[in-house]
Amino acid sequence: MILMCGGTGDLGGRILRLLIEDGQDVRALVRPQTDASGLPKGIEVARGDLRDRSSLDAALVDVDTVVTTANAVSRSMTGEKGLTIAAVDGEGNQNLIRAADQARVRRFVLMSAAGMGRDMARLAPLMAAKQEAEKALWRTSMRVVVVRPDMFQEAWLGPEAGFDLANRKATVRGRGTQPHRFVAMDDVARLTANLAVRSDPPGVMEFGGPEALSVMDVVAAYEAAAGTELKVSHVPRTVLRVLDAVFKRTNPSMATGVGLSLFFDTHAGTWDDRPLREVGVEPRPATAFIEAVVRASL
Ligand SMILES: NC(=O)c1ccc[n+]([C@@H]2O[C@H](COP(=O)([O-])OP(=O)(O)OC[C@H]3O[C@@H](n4cnc5c(N)ncnc54)[C@H](OP(=O)(O)O)[C@@H]3O)[C@@H](O)[C@H]2O)c1
Repeated sequence: MILMCGGTGDLGGRILRLLIEDGQDVRALVRPQTDASGLPKGIEVARGDLRDRSSLDAALVDVDTVVTTANAVSRSMTGEKGLTIAAVDGEGNQNLIRAADQARVRRFVLMSAAGMGRDMARLAPLMAAKQEAEKALWRTSMRVVVVRPDMFQEAWLGPEAGFDLANRKATVRGRGTQPHRFVAMDDVARLTANLAVRSDPPGVMEFGGPEALSVMDVVAAYEAAAGTELKVSHVPRTVLRVLDAVFKRTNPSMATGVGLSLFFDTHAGTWDDRPLREVGVEPRPATAFIEAVVRASL
């Protein structure tokens, strides 16, 4: 039995559906107040919350693999009280790891992020919590699988990330010159579902999509696809550093967005798309995502 934590989320839902399609026995951990009607029909639901240890003990009965993508960032942005990075990604992940180890779970698949281990955890509160979760996992007797994808195309290449086609503007956080392998969520989901069940998974899987593009390359790709120039404005790194420090005290989710922008603006990715191709995934290029956004806007 696989316990999927975060199955009502965007990436988590994709992984959950792939596991079900693959015929796996899956139980979804769903918070008591969350509508579970969108989950695949017939799936077993365990009501629980990462912040409530006893609910995790109950959800883990007969479970041999845990997969978790659960996190507080998007939910805390909508103002849900108590759903903080510290409570969910920090203490909540630690609860889940302790409960799974005590329940003699054999494999634990944690969704982390590419770049972990450099100064990402210092800049982004979410990454500090994930780093602590990674460390805690290695102290258990479980088979650890840490999944570290690069930035998601859907999160970092759309209008919310500053590419405003309607107004022909682009806001670039920092200089935008470091290359990164923006990856499709469906591709991350396919690899994660594979890692949950394959017989001999690696301990850490760091990867990205097929193209290495800087943010300025992304601007150029938008301009080529739309056939028009974008007016680019940069948020200087010094401003990002100040915002990161202020948000760390007032809004850790916002600090995570700013801190990650700063991290990716100052570090190039060293990973590639091999892990995806090795499991038969033909990864979607970032430019294909951009072209689809442009087509949809016409
Ligand atoms: N965006 C990127 O570029 C990027 C890059 C690398 C890695 N990642 C990682 O990829 C994952 C993205 O996942 P996603 O898209 O599925 O996230 P999402 O859409 O924001 O969904 C969050 C999920 O976490 C659940 N959750 C929140 N608090 C919980 C709690 N206290 N107890 C139990 N469940 C809780 C939510 O349940 P409810 O529905 O009940 O709220 C929901 O299922 C994250 O781990 C993220 O850090 C992202």
